[in-house]
Amino acid sequence: MKYALFAICLRLVQACNNCGQGADGNPHHWDRQRRCDHTDYHPKCQVCEGVGGIPTGDENDEITLTSCTPVANASQIDPASLIKPVWASEWTVLNYHEVLIGKKNDPFCFQTFPGNDSAGKLCYRYEYGVQTYDFRHARALREDLVVPTVLGTLQTELLHHGQYMWVVNHFPWYELGIHQCICVQVSGGSYGHQNTSKKAIYPVQKNWTDQMFYIGREKLGVEYIDKVELLDHWAFGPHHVWSRPANGTIVRMWQPFNGLQVFVEPSGTNPGTVDPQKFADIPPSYCKKGGSPFRINCNDTGYYVAPKKDVSSTCSKDANCEATPADFKRARTRKPRDEYRASSFVNMSMTLNKWLTSGSAPVKECSEFDFEELHGLEAALYLLRDSQLDEVYQKVTDNRRAFNSTLADFQKTWTELQALTVGHKNQTQLVGVIRDSLCHEVVMWYVHHLAEDAKQLLGQSGVQIPLLPYQSHREGTGTCKGPVGSKTHEQICQKHEETVTCMSCHSDVYR
Ligand SMILES: *[C@@H]1O[C@H](CO)[C@@H](O)[C@H](O)[C@H]1NC(C)=O
Ligand SMILES: *[C@@H]1O[C@H](CO)[C@@H](O)[C@H](O)[C@H]1NC(C)=O
Ligand SMILES: *[C@@H]1O[C@H](CO)[C@@H](O)[C@H](O)[C@H]1NC(C)=O
Ligand SMILES: *[C@@H]1O[C@H](CO)[C@@H](O)[C@H](O)[C@H]1NC(C)=O
Ligand SMILES: *[C@@H]1O[C@H](CO)[C@@H](O)[C@H](O)[C@H]1NC(C)=O
Ligand SMILES: *[C@@H]1O[C@H](CO)[C@@H](O)[C@H](O)[C@H]1NC(C)=O
Ligand SMILES: *[C@@H]1O[C@H](CO)[C@@H](O)[C@H](O)[C@H]1NC(C)=O
Ligand SMILES: *[C@@H]1O[C@H](CO)[C@@H](O)[C@H](O)[C@H]1NC(C)=O
Ligand SMILES: *[C@@H]1O[C@H](CO)[C@@H](O)[C@H](O)[C@H]1NC(C)=O
Repeated sequence: MKYALFAICLRLVQACNNCGQGADGNPHHWDRQRRCDHTDYHPKCQVCEGVGGIPTGDENDEITLTSCTPVANASQIDPASLIKPVWASEWTVLNYHEVLIGKKNDPFCFQTFPGNDSAGKLCYRYEYGVQTYDFRHARALREDLVVPTVLGTLQTELLHHGQYMWVVNHFPWYELGIHQCICVQVSGGSYGHQNTSKKAIYPVQKNWTDQMFYIGREKLGVEYIDKVELLDHWAFGPHHVWSRPANGTIVRMWQPFNGLQVFVEPSGTNPGTVDPQKFADIPPSYCKKGGSPFRINCNDTGYYVAPKKDVSSTCSKDANCEATPADFKRARTRKPRDEYRASSFVNMSMTLNKWLTSGSAPVKECSEFDFEELHGLEAALYLLRDSQLDEVYQKVTDNRRAFNSTLADFQKTWTELQALTVGHKNQTQLVGVIRDSLCHEVVMWYVHHLAEDAKQLLGQSGVQIPLLPYQSHREGTGTCKGPVGSKTHEQICQKHEETVTCMSCHSDVYR
């Protein structure tokens, strides 16, 4: 009998590997500090559990958990003395920080929105700024955020009204200062590429915190204000809210797969005022026809329209920068056609430059560019590239394959090389070699990794593309001539060799 019971217990334990771990079974196996939902969790969530912190990745230890000291559990506090967290119908929080967590749809996490479960790869995006909520008139929520990314600092406006959401990204100058609008229909499940027949999700209702359950009182470390505060811990499903016992002011919120939010403003989400201008432009003009040149999944009047195909690159809906059959044909052609080939370096640069000059973008001699400009241009091209073309190159391990590294890797390589030249007796010459190498790389990306439509877009924006340099540093005439001697020379010249490999395909000589 004893043994039989034991066997049943064992079976229960085995069958229950993932039950009591939230509605999605907690696929990343986060511990009870990182995740402890109020429902579907066993054992039940206690004081100082599910507190979260600043997450950086999906692994359980990829998070800096906040500090928490239990003060009292729910049964030790008189319920009549409790004030529920206040989520008023109108307020503006001028100082707001968050780590947004959402499904990963693109390598930069530009198009990331919180989902209804934690499955799959997630993005963790830190941002800060202003949050405005108006449930009385506009019935909308708006965030004006600053987002530090690998491509530099991005300004983002996020607007949620009805079942629609608009994300307007403003890229920094070296991303051409372009605006991009992403139109989203928020529906049950992931907010990413959704199935429109799913139930729509509207901006959070005022007083939504009325439904929260009390967990207990804690001394909790609050990120971004770097203070330990005595707070009441409330939960609803996977959502946790911490508010001040005296007046219910919300200080911090955590949802293990939606994000961390800290309201630095002393008034939190208490009743406040709203600037009506914030909601005067719905849908945002950037999302309508004639607005931003990069509109993703938006129709002419600025509403979400389902994408025909999943394109992960940041291309505009209008321009539909997907590679065309002609682009693919070019990608699969391993040897350049005769008119693109030539017999010497100078001759070859001139031949290829002839084609560049007759293309859709304005051009400028490589020698007229400086390092910063080329660096920025490279980032812009990375953003505009068509990843499907790279897949073709990767498959045949073609010299044109380029994007196995992140943009940060590319930029680090160049920045480090440039740093080597500082104070070097041949600084001017070496900087010239680096500039020429960058021109080669940028031209190769431009020619072989952008679909024709993206090239035209770039052309319209007035961005200049460098021409190929005429001086060969590999032929023994330039700075890389003969036994060059210094380590710095060698590193820079070796990188140069890598970037001019295109010449070995476009040349009649180096084969
Ligand atoms: C609350 O704390 C008291 C004292 O530590 C303990 O006896 C009680 O079981 C706790 N209640 C819950 C629901 O954890
Ligand atoms: C919830 O809404 C009601 C009605 O508008 C209001 O009287 C009440 O104060 C609100 N509760 C909170 C906690 O803001
Ligand atoms: C999330 O939403 C999707 C689509 O609506 C649904 O299939 C899935 O079961 C949901 N996940 C959870 C944990 O509710
Ligand atoms: C969308 O969801 C509905 C209901 O869940 C389903 O019947 C339909 O097949 C889905 N459509 C697509 C394109 O996934
Ligand atoms: C709420 O109470 C705290 C003290 O616990 C106080 O510092 C804060 O100003 C109060 N906030 C409001 C909006 O009354
Ligand atoms: C855009 O989509 C919205 C919502 O589906 C629709 O009402 C509107 O007519 C569409 N506009 C155009 C120009 O198709
Ligand atoms: C390249 O060299 C060939 C033969 O030497 C010559 O016919 C052609 O005009 C040259 N091209 C350019 C652009 O100078
Ligand atoms: C690119 O990276 C993948 C995964 O790291 C690797 O398997 C592949 O061989 C790499 N391709 C090239 C061309 O380096
Ligand atoms: C490096 O600089 C020295 C002194 O200015 C000069 O003599 C030499 O030719 C330069 N070497 C190269 C490879 O440019």
